[in-house]
Amino acid sequence: MTVELTLRRPDDWHVHLRDGEALMSVLPHTAKQFARAIVMPNLKPPVTTVALAGAYRDRIRAARPPGSDFEPLMTLYLFDKMPVEEIDRAKAAGFIAGCKLYPAGATTHSDAGVTDIRHIDAVLARMAELGVVLQVHGEVTHEHVDIFDREQRFIDDVLAPLVERHPTLKVVFEHITTRAAVDFVVGARAGVAATITPQHLLFNRNEIFRGGIRPHFYCLPVLKTEPDRRSLIEAATGGNPRFFLGTDSAPHARGAKESSCGCAGMYSAHAALELYAEAFEEAGALDKLEGFASLFGPDFYDMPRNPGTITLRREEWSVPSAFAFGSDVVVPMRANEKIRWRMIST
Ligand code: DOR
Ligand code: ZN
Repeated sequence: MTVELTLRRPDDWHVHLRDGEALMSVLPHTAKQFARAIVMPNLKPPVTTVALAGAYRDRIRAARPPGSDFEPLMTLYLFDKMPVEEIDRAKAAGFIAGCKLYPAGATTHSDAGVTDIRHIDAVLARMAELGVVLQVHGEVTHEHVDIFDREQRFIDDVLAPLVERHPTLKVVFEHITTRAAVDFVVGARAGVAATITPQHLLFNRNEIFRGGIRPHFYCLPVLKTEPDRRSLIEAATGGNPRFFLGTDSAPHARGAKESSCGCAGMYSAHAALELYAEAFEEAGALDKLEGFASLFGPDFYDMPRNPGTITLRREEWSVPSAFAFGSDVVVPMRANEKIRWRMIST
């Protein structure tokens, strides 16, 4: 049995760090686990300009624990009237890793997102020209489409045509949840990749309702079926460089989740690699974790792989019931339960 696993230092290609006091609370977790992270722009108000992204980047860097060399990789929030020139500014700035497409209404703080993909066609064309990556929240938002079918419908109605219309645009299909998404990414043209979260590798949708309604298992896209989960495990552990790590760690205050209308998002930053290690171990594929966590992401983004390593040890530990979250608390994945792996060095 493997008892210690040393990997090249990994990155998180999709995380929510929030802002203000909440940022101060959660950043140390991500900065301990990862060298770099792609930071989502769905603040309120959203990060729609390079100037806003630059200021947010400064706040994140200032929130790092002493001695941390963690680097935030910033994103811009696409909206219907985004000027094409903002893409030129993003390219010139050098610290913008991509632009995020939130279909309006798809998830937390997405109301200012894109109402129709055709509205941003010129922006997407400029991104393709300049090599700026598009990160996609891949769900349609129509009320009449079943929530469990929204990713598949997005592939058919929006993503497949978009990838064809912009044949050189680099696209990351974020936090994929279905077999349909895996199949799409495997069969897509070059320049299309996907991130996969720990929760979609570890749980199926039964978890949301096990013994009662469990709001801490609600995220978007929502957990899917067991065959979908198995398909994601195969994709993540199969060594295909199109699939890489993106936690989508998305903290909300406990009361905002344990509510009659609870927010979407699961917090995994405290133990992200350990949770992925469990999923890979169950699939008998611990040897594939390094590619997924540390190699394929930087390769896709044309960034250098990190120097240095981290080590995980097979050693059980208990996750606390909550972590501080500004003046509130956030309930983490596996709260009050055990995790089989522990990071012992960074
Ligand atoms: O569950 C989610 N939470 N999905 C998202 O797309 C957004 C995120 C958040 O910001 O809370
Ligand atoms: Zn997200």
